[in-house]
Amino acid sequence: MAAGRALAALLAALLAASAQREGPGQKSSEYVWSGSPLSCDQGGISDCPGLFLELWVKLSAAHHCPFFTISLHKADNTTVMIKLRPGLSPSCRIHVKNVIRSELKIKPGENVTFTFTCRTPEKYFIAEIQKNIDCISGLCPFGDVHLYPPGLPRLNRTYIWDVKASTKAGLELKFSTSWLRQIEPGETCPDSISYNINSCIDKATVNIGTFCRNGSVSRVKLLGGVVMSLHLPWHSPLTTSGFNIANRASIKRLCIIESILKAESSITLMSPNYPLGFPEDELMTWQFVIPPNMRASVFFHNYSLSNCERKEERVEYYIPGSPSNPEVFKLSDSQPANIAGSFNMSLQGCDQDAQNPGVLRLLFQVVVQHPQVDENVTHLVDLSKETNMTVTIHLEGWPSHVPLMSDPVCLICKDPRTCDRVLTLTSGAVYRISFLCKDLSRLRITAEKGIGCMDIRWCQGKIYSLSVPKTITQLPIQLHKFIWKLLATDLINVEITSPFLKLQQRVSEQRCNTSYSYRIVSAAPETKMNVGVFCPGGSIEKIQMRNNITISLETLGKGFTNESIPQDLQMSFVPHIKDECTFTVSPNPKAKVYLQTPNERYGLPPYVSVSWFIVVPSKQTARLGFSKDRMGLACETGRAYINIKEETPGAEEIVRREDELLPQPRNMHHNFWVNVSNCKPMDKTQLTLQFWVTFADKKIDLGIILAVVAGAGVLTAIGLTVYCVKKKKKKTQNPMVGVYNANVNTQVPGKKGLFRKGRQNNESHVYAVIDDAVVYGHLLKESNGSVAPEVDVYRPFDGPIGSLPPSPPPFSFRKDIKRSSNTEEEPLPLTDTDQDTYTFAHQKLGQSEDNGDANKKNKGDTSVPLLEKKEQDGLVE
Ligand SMILES: *[C@@H]1O[C@H](CO)[C@@H](O)[C@H](O)[C@H]1NC(C)=O
Ligand SMILES: *[C@@H]1O[C@H](CO)[C@@H](O)[C@H](O)[C@H]1NC(C)=O
Ligand SMILES: *[C@@H]1O[C@H](CO)[C@@H](O)[C@H](O)[C@H]1NC(C)=O
Ligand SMILES: *[C@@H]1O[C@H](CO)[C@@H](O)[C@H](O)[C@H]1NC(C)=O
Ligand SMILES: *[C@@H]1O[C@H](CO)[C@@H](O)[C@H](O)[C@H]1NC(C)=O
Ligand SMILES: *[C@@H]1O[C@H](CO)[C@@H](O)[C@H](O)[C@H]1NC(C)=O
Ligand SMILES: *[C@@H]1O[C@H](CO)[C@@H](O)[C@H](O)[C@H]1NC(C)=O
Ligand SMILES: *[C@@H]1O[C@H](CO)[C@@H](O)[C@H](O)[C@H]1NC(C)=O
Ligand SMILES: *[C@@H]1O[C@H](CO)[C@@H](O)[C@H](O)[C@H]1NC(C)=O
Ligand SMILES: *[C@@H]1O[C@H](CO)[C@@H](O)[C@H](O)[C@H]1NC(C)=O
Repeated sequence: MAAGRALAALLAALLAASAQREGPGQKSSEYVWSGSPLSCDQGGISDCPGLFLELWVKLSAAHHCPFFTISLHKADNTTVMIKLRPGLSPSCRIHVKNVIRSELKIKPGENVTFTFTCRTPEKYFIAEIQKNIDCISGLCPFGDVHLYPPGLPRLNRTYIWDVKASTKAGLELKFSTSWLRQIEPGETCPDSISYNINSCIDKATVNIGTFCRNGSVSRVKLLGGVVMSLHLPWHSPLTTSGFNIANRASIKRLCIIESILKAESSITLMSPNYPLGFPEDELMTWQFVIPPNMRASVFFHNYSLSNCERKEERVEYYIPGSPSNPEVFKLSDSQPANIAGSFNMSLQGCDQDAQNPGVLRLLFQVVVQHPQVDENVTHLVDLSKETNMTVTIHLEGWPSHVPLMSDPVCLICKDPRTCDRVLTLTSGAVYRISFLCKDLSRLRITAEKGIGCMDIRWCQGKIYSLSVPKTITQLPIQLHKFIWKLLATDLINVEITSPFLKLQQRVSEQRCNTSYSYRIVSAAPETKMNVGVFCPGGSIEKIQMRNNITISLETLGKGFTNESIPQDLQMSFVPHIKDECTFTVSPNPKAKVYLQTPNERYGLPPYVSVSWFIVVPSKQTARLGFSKDRMGLACETGRAYINIKEETPGAEEIVRREDELLPQPRNMHHNFWVNVSNCKPMDKTQLTLQFWVTFADKKIDLGIILAVVAGAGVLTAIGLTVYCVKKKKKKTQNPMVGVYNANVNTQVPGKKGLFRKGRQNNESHVYAVIDDAVVYGHLLKESNGSVAPEVDVYRPFDGPIGSLPPSPPPFSFRKDIKRSSNTEEEPLPLTDTDQDTYTFAHQKLGQSEDNGDANKKNKGDTSVPLLEKKEQDGLVE
């Protein structure tokens, strides 16, 4: 007994030592030597071998520690291995007879009883049950495969059936009850039960695949040996392997995988060894059993090709009823769709380049659907007369939302068997498309058309209609977007007009309730500016823009399938304009029109200038107001301005700099310009300006009428005089064009150094008061033919708006701007030393001006009517 006690003490010491090596994360209740009353282990029981077994069994039972007896028949050729899960330190052991060990191997014919030294062996141990089946030398035990032996402890366990067979014979694994579903490497099965099938050819192992239960793979046929393994978690109640083995005639290929698809469903399969390479020069087949009244479509989601030295990698289909079986496809081809009934598909490898073999792999999906009611209905899409156009039919949310493989399938077919989830049609052809889709409302159309002009001679005067072709609107698919990409060189600009419907700018006060809107984006080489969102039915008749323009018709709400929805957008290429954009607004007299500077979210880009020309009907007065008091930005370089100018002789110019208050609401009696030009704003400030225009009938005031008549007479006379005088004079110098920020984008020749007039030649004051645009138009023409396009730009408004100025009025309203000490900050070329402060204090000729905010520019000598001064100046010269 003393010897026994000494042994027990030694054992306890040993265990204690190993316990100290234990990590801190372990629960002490599982330390079998910890003395816990729940401990399964009774260290002293190995004292007396004679007494041992009986005592041990009793003690184990008393402490609820189960013991296991496993007896393996010799003939079963099965080995059971119980071992610690790799990477775990041994805090639980196996107690066999009088020995404590961390691993137990039970060989064929052995009979072993054991227990664990802890209550949760499943946390530490795994079991591997390997059965060798030799069909070459011995009898092949075909039939159902059992989970043998019984009575194993509840551990994670792997059953391995290693079948050796002649390569001349085929082996078939046939799965019962729940068929299998192949999973990608790294994927796990929901119930943690997985099958792995490996084929052994010439001592090399090919991984046919890993599968979960509950799928459609019903049979796998292989050649030669197979190593089949089944992984079960410790808690699995599974008692049968779920498959049987049979021998078959040679299949003459690596393997055949059979899938039986019963209902509407989809299956994803991979080539052997995926994502690694399919064995060189091998052949394999997938068979698909499809009910005859169903349709199947094949999609290759992921594949790569190896570098073939001889032969070509390909897939071959046997499709029932096909006149050309086998149908051979490249992996890059669109694979057959809408196949009626069962078919098979074979993957054929090639002889690879030994130096650089590459990888042949394939992940694909087969989708089974009921035939669609409309499968035989074809829709004609005639793009034969279109140019530069692509039409893509896709699922809602594409391309940001790529349809998941599990999504219900909606297919678009170019012909009965060429279908895909996304179909792109290009102009110049006629298509007959059909849909295999239960719910067409999930499909959308996105189309794009390019219109280019690289030489104005080829495009000037040409009017392009920007409307969605009828062949698209008549499809039973909702239009998502139609994009026109207008491409031109630097010196060609784009003018879009909506002569009948006109456009309304979408601002927060003025939402679009139409079924579609246009999003206009101008893409200069380095910047992108969202000109805005516009919907049909408004006041904007024309927008002229520089740079390449993208116009997207986007459908709103219920969409745009009805071809009766009116569209009225036209585009033409025009010669260079000065502003980034010019809007011509001709409002409905009853409307309140809101207008806003482009690029709302980020503010007008630096140095960009935008103009609005607002047409005021003759019998009406417009009221113009700004939505806020100030521009709300600080300039880092340059200054930002707002200029407002009525287009009438003698009109007063209203100029506001970014550090000044914006004008109060004011009445405008004639067509007028609003120009906004930006500086380079300081960080975190931006120029976003909104204004509104309303209309009221003109008040009939006899006094005013008289004054107007009188004033107009005087003006006409003066205008003519000035015109003649100026015409002579201007020949000697640069023409004066707009004086707003001559920004970097303005590259019209002849504009540089615009205001660098010498003192001796100083006629700035003349410009300051000359307000008859006619003068400038002609002068421009004379001084520089290259800016000829701007000639009629300054014509007074005289009817149709098509020829209206796209630029702010050409007046020098900067003379009153006190130059700051750092002149270089001033982007305006006001570098002359002229310190004159010009005023615009015309007498309001018969106009009822409600100019509440005393115009700062009127600070000058209002007692001397400027018109007279101008007249004198002109006459003097
Ligand atoms: C294995 O051993 C147990 C207990 O000694 C005994 O009951 C059983 O019959 C044995 N089984 C075999 C197959 O030898
Ligand atoms: C047993 O399997 C489960 C799930 O498959 C796993 O989370 C656990 O770690 C495994 N246990 C051991 C000891 O390997
Ligand atoms: C048992 O396995 C061994 C080794 O693989 C093999 O030689 C033997 O033929 C097998 N016996 C049976 C009956 O399969
Ligand atoms: C089998 O899969 C289907 C759908 O994939 C699921 O609804 C069903 O519950 C699964 N059955 C089992 C037993 O896992
Ligand atoms: C296709 O293969 C690439 C590379 O292995 C992988 O990143 C991608 O997730 C795969 N796609 C699918 C759908 O399996
Ligand atoms: C494929 O299908 C065709 C026609 O049903 C059949 O003749 C052929 O044997 C099949 N091939 C395989 C490998 O299943
Ligand atoms: C479509 O046409 C094919 C061949 O003509 C026919 O077999 C099929 O029944 C038709 N499908 C429907 C839904 O009418
Ligand atoms: C087609 O688009 C390209 C640029 O994408 C353009 O250069 C070409 O002029 C366009 N053709 C027509 C007819 O508009
Ligand atoms: C849109 O709103 C305007 C007025 O806000 C209204 O006159 C017009 O009928 C509306 N259109 C639609 C389609 O609702
Ligand atoms: C417009 O795009 C075309 C082609 O991409 C380019 O050559 C041209 O310079 C662009 N024009 C402008 C003003 O950015």
